Amino acid sequence: MGFTMGLNLVLLMAMVATNILSLYHLSKNVQSPRAPTPQPVPDHLLNQLRTIRSTINHLTRLQPPSPPSSASAAANPAPTIPSDLLLHSQLSPIASACHGYPDLLHRFMNYTPFSLCPHDPDLAEALILRGCHPLPRRRCFSRTPPKTTSASLPHNPFPPALPDSNVIWAKYSCKSFSCLNHYNPNLGFDTSHEYSKFTTYRSELDLPVSQLLQIAKSAGSVLRLGIDIGGGTGSFAATMKMQNVTVVTTTMNLGAPYNEAAALRGLVPLHVPLQQRLPVFDGVVDLVRCGHAVNRWIPETVLEFMLFDIDRVLRGGGYLWLDHFFGKGVSMEKVYKPLIGKLGYKKVKWATANKTDSSGLKNGEVYLTALLQKPVTK
Ligand SMILES: *[C@@H]1O[C@H](CO)[C@@H](O)[C@H](O)[C@H]1NC(C)=O
Ligand SMILES: *[C@@H]1O[C@H](CO)[C@@H](O)[C@H](O)[C@H]1NC(C)=O
Repeated sequence: MGFTMGLNLVLLMAMVATNILSLYHLSKNVQSPRAPTPQPVPDHLLNQLRTIRSTINHLTRLQPPSPPSSASAAANPAPTIPSDLLLHSQLSPIASACHGYPDLLHRFMNYTPFSLCPHDPDLAEALILRGCHPLPRRRCFSRTPPKTTSASLPHNPFPPALPDSNVIWAKYSCKSFSCLNHYNPNLGFDTSHEYSKFTTYRSELDLPVSQLLQIAKSAGSVLRLGIDIGGGTGSFAATMKMQNVTVVTTTMNLGAPYNEAAALRGLVPLHVPLQQRLPVFDGVVDLVRCGHAVNRWIPETVLEFMLFDIDRVLRGGGYLWLDHFFGKGVSMEKVYKPLIGKLGYKKVKWATANKTDSSGLKNGEVYLTALLQKPVTK
């Protein structure tokens, strides 16, 4: 029982942290909470962020190494830069945020070239979440699971079960997909559970895919390409694939193998954090969906940049779908509605409702599901 609750908590924290950890690291407000800033971060939020960061540090086993004794510090005044890092940085630039975390960067690039890479996906994500993206390349062989199946990989994005043998489970407390499903069926690894997620209408906050396609069709707009931001195991992309629509999913791996799961379903997982500029050209996609990974945890200005980046990648007449966005009741009217309004999109659907889970009731949160259409010309 203790283990179940502990694991659920860690997985929950990981999901929340996926949303905001990266932003936390980049936020000046957070680094100097006492300094006068235009938008001070409330104390309770800082406390929650600190808790999440320490959970994630624990989860990814990336607590800073214990400080060296004064004797060894004197003996090693500067860390030696790994030779492959020196070589790579002469060939191609490394994202400047990487240099802010030399200890992590050095650990990442400290490997034996042309041999097997260290198994360090946690380290890679820790760097990515701190803004070090793209990561420098390495000249080593990434590890593969010991007994992969390839002949039996499913073409169906909703297979009865995902093959456990295609994942390296070493970093996770669970060692199988059924274990993940057992402890929390809502993470997205139970494909039978996922099947109905985007096809059923339970409340006005839902927008079943059949309705979405109908809306686009009656507006004379075709949906062929989309991006699902923070899309977990790719269930939205899976549902759209059944309709012959190609959707790529941005997803991170905190606490569970979300990227592998999406790929095992035959869907493209883009390993990019929320604060990353979307890796596609301007005006090329028909649809962007933001699941509830995009919510009030994201500082307002960061959210504004995100919305304008979404606008950049959408073609004229394309759709932005905010699916179960949540914020405080007062902010929804005062902050988010005007913020979203800056895009000047047509409101095709706009539904709000009280968020009635315990944290929603405690914080007076409301959900917003909105379907917005980008004007054809600006
Ligand atoms: C998807 O494409 C396949 C092959 O072209 C076709 O048989 C199928 O009817 C299409 N499905 C939908 C929902 O359009
Ligand atoms: C939503 O919550 C507010 C208080 O937070 C309450 O006044 C209102 O009646 C609720 N609305 C519905 C539809 O339950």
